[in-house]
Amino acid sequence: MCGIVGYVGNGSAREIIIDGLKKLEYRGYDSSGIAFGTGNNLEIRKCVGRISNLETLLSKENLDSHIGIGHTRWATHGAPSDANAHPHSNMDESIAIVHNGIIENYVELKEMLINEHGVVFKSETDTEVIAHLLGVLYDGDLEEAVWKAVEMMRGAYALVAIHKDEPDKMIAVRKDAPLIAGLGKGCNFVASDIPALLKYVREIYLIENNELIVVTADDVKIYNAERKPVTREVFHVTWDVDAAEKGGYDHFMLKEIHEQPKGLEDTLVRRLNDNGEIVLEGITMTKEDIENFNKVYIVACGTAYHAGLVGKAAIEKMARIPVEVEVASEFRYRDPFVDDKTLFIAISQSGETLDTLAALREAKSKGARVLSVVNVVGSSVARESDDVFYTWAGPEIAVASTKAYTTQLMCMYMIGLYMGLTKGTITREFYDSYIEELKAIPGKLAKVLENEGAIENLAKELYRREHVFFIGRGPDSGVSLEGSLKLKEISYINSFAIAAGELKHGTIALIEQGTLVIALATQDKLFEKMLSNIQEVKARGAYVIGVAKDGNKDIEKQADKTIYIPECIDEITPLLSVVPLQLLAYYIAKLRGCDIDKPKNLAKSVTVE
Ligand code: F6R
Repeated sequence: MCGIVGYVGNGSAREIIIDGLKKLEYRGYDSSGIAFGTGNNLEIRKCVGRISNLETLLSKENLDSHIGIGHTRWATHGAPSDANAHPHSNMDESIAIVHNGIIENYVELKEMLINEHGVVFKSETDTEVIAHLLGVLYDGDLEEAVWKAVEMMRGAYALVAIHKDEPDKMIAVRKDAPLIAGLGKGCNFVASDIPALLKYVREIYLIENNELIVVTADDVKIYNAERKPVTREVFHVTWDVDAAEKGGYDHFMLKEIHEQPKGLEDTLVRRLNDNGEIVLEGITMTKEDIENFNKVYIVACGTAYHAGLVGKAAIEKMARIPVEVEVASEFRYRDPFVDDKTLFIAISQSGETLDTLAALREAKSKGARVLSVVNVVGSSVARESDDVFYTWAGPEIAVASTKAYTTQLMCMYMIGLYMGLTKGTITREFYDSYIEELKAIPGKLAKVLENEGAIENLAKELYRREHVFFIGRGPDSGVSLEGSLKLKEISYINSFAIAAGELKHGTIALIEQGTLVIALATQDKLFEKMLSNIQEVKARGAYVIGVAKDGNKDIEKQADKTIYIPECIDEITPLLSVVPLQLLAYYIAKLRGCDIDKPKNLAKSVTVE
């Protein structure tokens, strides 16, 4: 849950690493630091707070080098502080390391280092254990020391180490945490993710689990766990540099909200052939496989879990297979019924969420067929799945997920349609008309975005509220959960979502004069029922913002204000109705002066349990 960047070459390590760390702040941003190799010494500078604090610290002196490793942290062991910030070093400060992940047996290793080697620790981190371990294992060869340390450490990590006496070399290892190497001219890089390097290189190696790399200015050598050299294909990154930048918007989140029509179009159209058939390129699921499944589990976390709720409805309706949706952290610890007749679908934007990855491994070990819906190409979830259905959202930088969610929804509808058509549980006519509905969504979503000004005005009216309820029925109840999560995570307003029909079983006790209720009423079949639920909260004094389809004007008789979305079939309204909720959350958070792209206590990719 941290970002790492390393550089060796003929340029300024300081400039390149600071630049890269800024692109990785989405991975954590409570402290940061750099270690420079100065030829015969190591110089470490680190401090609590954002990368800008580190820049200020570095600006006080003229420190730079041809080699350096940098880190931006999201605290796991030990609070954010200067001492706990990375890089960490061993006793004589001859080795510096940066690390992303967790060393599970760090207590045991720490005791050994203290009792047998008299090591004195300066921080509360598990990472410092690695630095001291390398210190006691070092015998003139850093690579050898890292190999030995890897044998002694348990956990999920990516780390990079440098030694003062080997001033032209970085040694890095990947074990269940992301790591890439960037290939420059007369220089090479390591990093946790591609945006960190885009300004400098487009040719990269995706490092696999349990691989160790030796990086010098002229070469990147990759070794597998058996210490055998590995040949890796170069991955050419085609993203625009701009795609990883804000592109004129105030925040990544707003930019990403506006990228949704394109993301949805790409996700759908890139998988449709000229006959409108879904082509599962690279996915090997046959008719027999689909007929063999007697159960589907959809497992994910947070927003991706909310996409799974919509997936359940789509697959059950179209493929007529029972689907359970579960948060990954619960799934993995309860011995679920999984066998070789189970299709396990993991949904993850980052593809690095540890809970999701662990649930996937659990399901796989019990024989399930694993299909993942992932945004980050080459991520761990993608690599460990039997088949991958990529979302085409492009890089999502804002911590609050928006375009990943809607593209995940699109994938879920497509998976349902594909399974249903292949299995024969839906007709070709039904399939064709559904695809036409989906094709119209990007245009309709652009219309929703044209309403941005009205939603900004609504935010001006509502931003001082401290409690909000989201209610809805059917697909709207899943969107309520997502709207509520968006609002709470970026504006810190206490918001709560509940299936509208459940209100009267307890929660309605909280509704009083002026309580804000956002009521999603986009389902034609359930519209009357929702009007009754709105009436119930109105009768207790609630102030209600309704969300309804164009033309369903009756809602105005009940709701105080209404946001309309374009007409579409009931099942796919989440693709449209979530967008005003994203915008409302965004503008409310902006008016409250919140740090929208980097909300407090959160990080973009949650690679710890
Ligand atoms: C909320 C949000 C998180 C993620 C969750 C899973 O806006 O982004 O709830 O959805 O942490 O992350 P991924 O999709 O990367 O597995």
